[in-house]
Amino acid sequence: MSDLQDRMKEAVATAAVDQIRDGMVVGLGSGSTAALMIRALGQKLRQGELKGIVGVTTSFQGEVLAAELGIPLMALNAVTSIDLAIDGADEVDPSFQLIKGGGACHVQEKLVARRADRFVIVVDATKLVERLNLGFLLPVEVLPGAWRQVRDELTAMGSSVELRMAVRKAGPVVTDQGNLVLDVAFEAGIGDPAALEATINNIPGVLENGLFVNLVDQVLVGEIEAGEPRV
Ligand code: 5RP
Repeated sequence: MSDLQDRMKEAVATAAVDQIRDGMVVGLGSGSTAALMIRALGQKLRQGELKGIVGVTTSFQGEVLAAELGIPLMALNAVTSIDLAIDGADEVDPSFQLIKGGGACHVQEKLVARRADRFVIVVDATKLVERLNLGFLLPVEVLPGAWRQVRDELTAMGSSVELRMAVRKAGPVVTDQGNLVLDVAFEAGIGDPAALEATINNIPGVLENGLFVNLVDQVLVGEIEAGEPRV
């Protein structure tokens, strides 16, 4: 990742944390941009600029980070509502529909987004696209015992499908829920995200796919202008 992209991510992460108020239950997303946001929140809590915050994490990675920073956490099942959820994304289209799941966390991320009164996305400008899935593969979490069957059904829909492998292909990526991830590409991209989200989730063996449709309240975009990051 370039230094410029890092600076854009820092800028949006800070801007998102500025929306957090005392006493809020906050959904803490996953990925590198969300991690910067969690760090910025931890710093504000440490400095006494915010109090009474409870975080609800969307990944094991986020849980470890938040715990290390001393952010009080509650399980999704233990809260009845989330005031604000902040998360990154892999692609954002002009209607604010998203592809997420680059970190294989989209099941928990979608649950937290759905529970949130307000869902804010933090991305750098490289994530903005005209049409979804032309650049980034669509993640689909599947039961381990069904991955071939689901792959065949997705292939029959006209897509190409790969089982996500761990770095150096030592084995498949396993999600926090113990499942596998198929990465799916439609050659012409995705024209109707809502219909495709429902169709894929209707395949037996699918837990959830990475299309986030009509969930987003605000997208904060980090850009570089005259060499400086701005939101
Ligand atoms: C993880 C996600 C992430 O939010 C997404 O991959 C963006 O990550 P990053 O901020 O590192 O680019 O959906 O499942």
